Amino acid sequence: MDIKKIIKQMTLEEKAGLCSGADFWKTKAVERLGVPQMMVSDGPHGLRKQDDQADHAGINESIKAVCFPTGVTVCSSFDRDLIREMGENLGEACQAENLGVLLGPAVNIKRSPLCGRNFEYFSEDPYLSAEMATSQIKGVQSQGVGTSIKHYLANSQEHRRMSSDSRVDERTLREIYLPTFEKAVKEAQPWTVMCSYNRINGTYASENPRFLTELLRDEWGFEGFVVSDWGAVNDRVAGVKAGLDLEMPSSFGLNDALIVKAVKTGKLEEAVLDRAVERILRIVFMARDKKNPKARFDREAQHGKARQIAGESMVLLKNEGILPLAKKGKVAFLGAFADKPRFQGGGSSHINVFKQTSALEAAKAQLGSAVTVSYAPGYSLTEDKVDRSLIQQAADLASEADCAVIFAGLPDSYESEGYDRSHMRMPEGHNVLIEEVARVQKNLVVVLHNGSPVEMPWLSQVKGVLEAYLAGQAVGEAVVDILFGDVNPSGKLAETFPVKLEDNPSYLYYLGEKDVVEYREGVFVGYRYYDKKNMEVLFPFGHGLSYTTFSYDNLKIGHSKIKDTDSLTVSLTVTNRGSVFGRETVQLYVAPPAGDVIRPVKELKGFAKVALEPGKSEKVSFELEKRSFAYFNTVINDWYVESGDYGILVGSSSRDIRVRGSVQVKSTVTIPWKYDMNSLVGDILRDSKKAGLVKGLLKSMEEVFGQGSGDDGDAAQDAITDEMKDAMFKYMPLRNFACFGGGLVTFEELQDIIYKLNET
Ligand code: BGC
Repeated sequence: MDIKKIIKQMTLEEKAGLCSGADFWKTKAVERLGVPQMMVSDGPHGLRKQDDQADHAGINESIKAVCFPTGVTVCSSFDRDLIREMGENLGEACQAENLGVLLGPAVNIKRSPLCGRNFEYFSEDPYLSAEMATSQIKGVQSQGVGTSIKHYLANSQEHRRMSSDSRVDERTLREIYLPTFEKAVKEAQPWTVMCSYNRINGTYASENPRFLTELLRDEWGFEGFVVSDWGAVNDRVAGVKAGLDLEMPSSFGLNDALIVKAVKTGKLEEAVLDRAVERILRIVFMARDKKNPKARFDREAQHGKARQIAGESMVLLKNEGILPLAKKGKVAFLGAFADKPRFQGGGSSHINVFKQTSALEAAKAQLGSAVTVSYAPGYSLTEDKVDRSLIQQAADLASEADCAVIFAGLPDSYESEGYDRSHMRMPEGHNVLIEEVARVQKNLVVVLHNGSPVEMPWLSQVKGVLEAYLAGQAVGEAVVDILFGDVNPSGKLAETFPVKLEDNPSYLYYLGEKDVVEYREGVFVGYRYYDKKNMEVLFPFGHGLSYTTFSYDNLKIGHSKIKDTDSLTVSLTVTNRGSVFGRETVQLYVAPPAGDVIRPVKELKGFAKVALEPGKSEKVSFELEKRSFAYFNTVINDWYVESGDYGILVGSSSRDIRVRGSVQVKSTVTIPWKYDMNSLVGDILRDSKKAGLVKGLLKSMEEVFGQGSGDDGDAAQDAITDEMKDAMFKYMPLRNFACFGGGLVTFEELQDIIYKLNET
């Protein structure tokens, strides 16, 4: 296909027109030149293909499809292969439905538990998020269908999402908010990237050349096209120049006309427009060429896959010997979610499911006659209140049973796209139900359906908690699989559950001041903050229990000393010490030494999921590289590894480190440094090649100021230690050697020293 030739034959109007949608979901065709239409569809965890009556808010119905577990759920599997398979299933469905691009994955970093779209997003950790996004993209695209990784960039709240300005410093962008997009682009080449609604440091994402071109294309090598989030275009011509290729949905010719006018008046070079057209056409033709007319989409088979994924993603948060439940006796299922589970979120990812199972139905279908399951709703799904009579009915049922399972969490009215929560509490009706039932039934388990962390004031009163999140349409079967031991839970939290909202690092600034949203916590997002502050959390990042236990032994670190350009192999042996089959996510964290920049205590740099029969062992290996040790240094505008000893911590959660070792890493990069009158003596002393130039001066200074100390009866004076003196001199700028030094050195002599200090 000679795309350049097609572009030459297109009129200016046709080219401008191609840069916006034909309608809500399709690109424009240019029939006379054989350019086909391409249809796109939401979303990250299932198809929301709408034909007529299109909208992007999930209001109108779409075709019947399969709802897989949402982003937060599947990410908790920590399983690259599993999410890749989910991607393959989604890609297969897209092929069958004649779609060119699936609008996902959604990968914004979780700054706060309050974000209304946290259920769609993966994690608070950029490494985990990047690994999972890359695998999902590879899965979808292996089926000859494109993806649209979204929402690029720094779009971690819904409040004022179309006008807010995320103010984020460079190091934080590089270390926290960019890596998921970076890795996905470098390793999986999504066909498209969707820019977000918000501004970033003052400029709308849809017209931001730094992110749309300099980083995305020039630095990372992105080859596809950039599409606007639906309605994210502010200044269309600025957008084309910055690298926004396709505007979605249609702007009914308004913005196309602005592009035409800008070209005609010389404000936009036609070659820049041609570039956007070429990028769009490349993908449109690729979608056409990869179309598989024979593709079928077996909804029942996909439902089975959704069940498996849900089972391997849900997180067992607490288990005081109550789970798995015995498959005999009387079990009370309480809470309306037992009958009508919340399994997906509201907004553009909302799927019209072809079927869906509740735990109540699944229990009846899956468990033998030895188990009797009774049910009481306990709360209303339509009214947000404490209903004492429903609670009493549930408590009565619980008291007659051998054990009770309460299904609780967040109803649809609590979290959704376009809206952020204002607190982290569950409905009072759910909390009171748990507390009242706990009074009469000690064998109590809570199953949670929610898209983001909640406070759990009742935690000490229940024996077990299963975090099911929003687990997709097969949620009922997957919950029963876990509750009764047919599946051994293996999900791990991809986010920290703080004890209370106020503990969250973004708490003081979240939602911002009108449109200004400052990301003041910087790189200290999630566990990076809680660990640094040594804070108690409800459940830490990476936490998740199993019905078996695993031991970690034999940690081997490839070398004791490496250079920052070397890679490092770390291995260990994991053994299933229990009596049932289980999966374990082994997590590797790197702990940097104290240095010039303020860094997290440790950061996730590797994970692997292993499946082990009882008594069996497996060797798990990780490959670490420069980025595993580096931080983003804004002086050299690059990743930089400070020389020093780095801890290698391997464990079952961020707060359950089982084996540890260390490696000495030596930097091969010198940070260019310019000395001047304000340079501190201490900094110069650390530079071994230059220290000699100031040592003499320092000694003289110490002699001058050292006099008068000692035992002279002045208590404050006598208390001055050598360390204190040392600190005072070390943090003194060079200029003070002339001024304070009383003739030790002249300004001219200092200039001479500075000249020598700056000699290379
Ligand atoms: C959402 C996107 C979605 C698009 C199309 C927007 O409101 O932010 O995630 O893909 O609508 O439905």
